Amino acid sequence: MRRRVVVTHPLPGECLEALAPHCEIRVLEGGVRYLSEQSGEERAACHGLICLLTDPIDTPLLEALPNLRFVSSVSVGVDHIDVEALTARSIPVGNTPGVLVDATADTAFALLLAAARRVAEGDRYIRGGNWRPESRWSPDFFLGKDVSGSTLGIVGLGAIGQAVSRRAVGFGMNVLGWTPSGRNVPGVDKVSLEELLLRSDFVSVHLALTPETRNLLDAARIATMKPGAVLVNTARGGIVDESALAAALDSGQLYAAGLDVFAREPIAPDDPLLRHPGVVVVPHIGSATTLTRAKMVDLAVANAAAALQGQPMPHCVNPEVYPLALSRQIT
Ligand code: DGY
Repeated sequence: MRRRVVVTHPLPGECLEALAPHCEIRVLEGGVRYLSEQSGEERAACHGLICLLTDPIDTPLLEALPNLRFVSSVSVGVDHIDVEALTARSIPVGNTPGVLVDATADTAFALLLAAARRVAEGDRYIRGGNWRPESRWSPDFFLGKDVSGSTLGIVGLGAIGQAVSRRAVGFGMNVLGWTPSGRNVPGVDKVSLEELLLRSDFVSVHLALTPETRNLLDAARIATMKPGAVLVNTARGGIVDESALAAALDSGQLYAAGLDVFAREPIAPDDPLLRHPGVVVVPHIGSATTLTRAKMVDLAVANAAAALQGQPMPHCVNPEVYPLALSRQIT
């Protein structure tokens, strides 16, 4: 039987053509959960998976796919994948680092500026018919928060955090940074997380979601943030305690928030966070530019192509599976 690669959602363009000489390709319409519902024969045919960050790759799924030999995710984050369970089975997991750095840093900065200068609120104000002759320009009309000259604290100084720091310097901000690895970054004043939260007018989160970072910004840490600060999150919702964030916004301790990611996506329309006028939200679009998404798909396909040809994936989050995984790719 020819090896089959299951692609959990349709992908743009002709990107899968590169895989055609090496395998049969099956594209699902609505995600990996449809794979679990297939017959045993169908599931046994699955040699590789190309998935999205909305596809949970967990132990029950792995047990349903006895011949799975690789997983390639069209994402840099792999918190939807039980990497430990895959590693235990010597199955490599590919991701797409690097190519979404600038797009995501741009989104973080867009949210920072929008939250500081009340862009979404102003948009709603006009569309709601509220901008009338008696409520036009005046010295205290729609005042926001200064960006230039303020302090940005970057939580996580990987490639995206560093790209945000370069933007912040360009906007005349002072930049503090904290990262679990303790790395030094030029232009960023490295401080403890406690000091960063105390001193920053803006805090932007750029960490992967792991057991160590889950709920890192919990109620106790949010309570130590500088009064009037703005929180920006383009990383993962699970890093921030959203109820504590909503409470800090409601009490006026925090000025605003700019959020691209949520603990549960899609966020419920009646979520308390959405009640606050200072919260600017977008639907997990940090990397959503045409070029960036094309590059992410290309990397995911390159990871799959390498696995199918018995080579290490160029971007593998569990390289310790090699060399054992290589011998298992060849049928
Ligand atoms: C990722 O790739 O993990 C990003 O969240 C996509 O925007």
